[in-house]
Amino acid sequence: MPNHAPIQFDIEARSDSTLKFSPQQQNKKRKREHEQPPPRVSSVHQNGQPKKNRQSNLNSSLPNLSGPNAKLNVRRQTLLPIRKQLPIWSHQQEIRQSLRRTDVLVLSGETGSGKSTQVPQFLLTEQWCNGRIAVTQPRRVAAISLARRVAEEMGTPLGSSSPASRVGYSVRFDNSTSANTRIKYLTEGMLLQELLRDPALKEYSAVIVDEIHERSVNVDLILGFLRNLLTTGRHAREGKPLKVVIMSATVDTEKLVKFFDEGYKIPHLGSSESPVQSKFISTVYVEGRQYPVSINYLPEPTNNIIEMSLKTIFQTHYKEPLPGDILIFLPGQEIIENLERQINELAANMEAEVPKMLTLPLFAALPQAAQQRIFQPAPPRTRKIILSTNIAETSVTVPGIRHVVDCGTVKMKYFHSKLGLEALLAKPISQSAAIQRKGRAGREAPGKCYRLYPESEYVKLDRNTRPEILRCDLSQAILIMKARGVNDVLNFPLLDPPPQKAMEKALLLLLQLGALNGEDGSINEIGQKMAKLPLTPTLARVIVEAAKPEMDCLEDVIDVLACLSVENIFLNPATEEKREAAEAARKDLFRREGDHITLLSAVRAYTSERTDRREWAEQRWISHRAMQNVMNVRKQLHAQCKQLGFLSKDASLRADSASFTALDERKTDMIIQCLTRGFLFNTAALHPDGSYRTLFGKQTVAIHPSSVLFGRKVEAIVFSEFVFTTKAYARGVSAVSLAHIDGLL
Ligand code: CDP
Repeated sequence: MPNHAPIQFDIEARSDSTLKFSPQQQNKKRKREHEQPPPRVSSVHQNGQPKKNRQSNLNSSLPNLSGPNAKLNVRRQTLLPIRKQLPIWSHQQEIRQSLRRTDVLVLSGETGSGKSTQVPQFLLTEQWCNGRIAVTQPRRVAAISLARRVAEEMGTPLGSSSPASRVGYSVRFDNSTSANTRIKYLTEGMLLQELLRDPALKEYSAVIVDEIHERSVNVDLILGFLRNLLTTGRHAREGKPLKVVIMSATVDTEKLVKFFDEGYKIPHLGSSESPVQSKFISTVYVEGRQYPVSINYLPEPTNNIIEMSLKTIFQTHYKEPLPGDILIFLPGQEIIENLERQINELAANMEAEVPKMLTLPLFAALPQAAQQRIFQPAPPRTRKIILSTNIAETSVTVPGIRHVVDCGTVKMKYFHSKLGLEALLAKPISQSAAIQRKGRAGREAPGKCYRLYPESEYVKLDRNTRPEILRCDLSQAILIMKARGVNDVLNFPLLDPPPQKAMEKALLLLLQLGALNGEDGSINEIGQKMAKLPLTPTLARVIVEAAKPEMDCLEDVIDVLACLSVENIFLNPATEEKREAAEAARKDLFRREGDHITLLSAVRAYTSERTDRREWAEQRWISHRAMQNVMNVRKQLHAQCKQLGFLSKDASLRADSASFTALDERKTDMIIQCLTRGFLFNTAALHPDGSYRTLFGKQTVAIHPSSVLFGRKVEAIVFSEFVFTTKAYARGVSAVSLAHIDGLL
């Protein structure tokens, strides 16, 4: 725990406790990070097109905006001059013309230059564009907020069935589009789902792949499918043109050009068309609008990020004038919530004359409404302190930021291929991520960036973030390919092909899950069902198992999986005394079968609470926010299972009035059986020396201290999470019989 006592923020009086950052040498800075002074913003266009023309182009895509839409029209008019000031505006003709000439455009430009909001609008009035435009995003929050913004800019209602609506979004379990939607923002996962339904993407004239630098597995798969559609699979589009735009803040243009070019060089097997000529790719670079940001490093590495963060935040708050919000990058939800609590406690004791602080967390699992709060301006005499994961790095632009604190780590999925286990680990960021983070401080004025690590560590960081496909479990990627007709997955075009060994390992997992046919590796009925669920194969398999009529526990399993999909619902109080109190308050919820049934009992008790759910949660040190999230995911999974016919059409969400303890052992047994079917790789047996070892890979794992089974010895365990801190831990653990595991092998 950080020691709070010496942190007094009377900077003048206590200069000895003041954090010392060493400023980066100016000459190095420019060279390394290509700092640009803000370019002069001009509304005069350089492309020779009269202004009137462009304006009418914009209008021709819009419905009649008189009458009830007048209000939207006013908003559109207000936003127009702002749009025209975006750096991308002067590249409009260049972008349109590139795509008239070529199929693929690789577009790079600083975050905030206007790529995500403007490019789809530029393309909408092109002659070739008579279908929809898809814009993919790695995150839900970005897809939704971009769609909202662009609907406003175009003066049309968002997603509704009103004939005037032109812009919509589609994210997991939340579809806000109509027959009139022309621009559709969607997560990468949703575009992959659409490929199941419509393998040639015939309803689209253009696909814009945004934020490519994040290099999620999904985006790499999308690039492969698009390359096939533009080349070997062209005939499937029946003559309809398809344009592809690849966009990013930091993009390896050369690599992308080479990737697509190679596709065009492959002879068109099975196609009656003659081989397409090369030179189908163009590139455009949009300069950023970036003010200088000074960089400050810690002189020494720290092992107490929380304390360093607190010092830096409060020092900045006391020293720097308003306006000027602070954005701090942290690795995950737990540390964000911990730091948020500590800031709030300290801020409550600030002198009356010091401006107030408003802490706002931002991470992917945060409910929509809470995420949207970060966009609102701070109240008078108040500084916003935004505590964010890497979401705010490029995906979301938060206005008002002048100070960035970068702790230098990010949580990433890592796959231990030898053990067959995947873990979420906090890892050092890459240099390009550090540069992006720093850039967030210089959007509106010169800013400051505090890196909570020494410069000697910065220079050792990888230049770019390693693509997820090279470090994660590939079973979901392979299932996605197989379900979309790619049987020869080893030859699917990928920007960075993973080692063959990793692919084989994933194929083995899918075989073990019973998703593929043993003889030829083709996808079977179970695999097809799994592929329709927007979940990892492991979780999808649990659902498919629970949907079997003889199991009769799908709704309970949904509740458990909903808990697993959010971060911890049980809060971990800071002091021993409080921890004991929390334990006592939660006693009734704990179940001897393990953590999964304990989670289920918490959901049951929460949903049956009729008076005040927030108070109920607070009394038990249960995160109300996490619980609200669980409710949301539960609702969505429920709807999805109904849609797939796993639940009957008239099944309604249960608000349990009966106490869970009334449920019998048979039921809990079924639930654990379903979990074991999916998490077969995550099973471990007790050895005579008292340790648990995984049945595949023979890795020693210890039951995590947060588990209700901690300290207990049971024959075998199944666990939903593998964490590697000081040693290998199983978290989210249930007791299971060896006989049952044997039955599945
Ligand atoms: O894609 P890129 O980062 O280049 O820029 P963008 O997302 O198109 O954002 C351009 C500008 O639109 C931002 O600087 C914001 O002023 C505005 N914007 C907004 O107000 N709300 C959003 N949800 C997205 C963008």
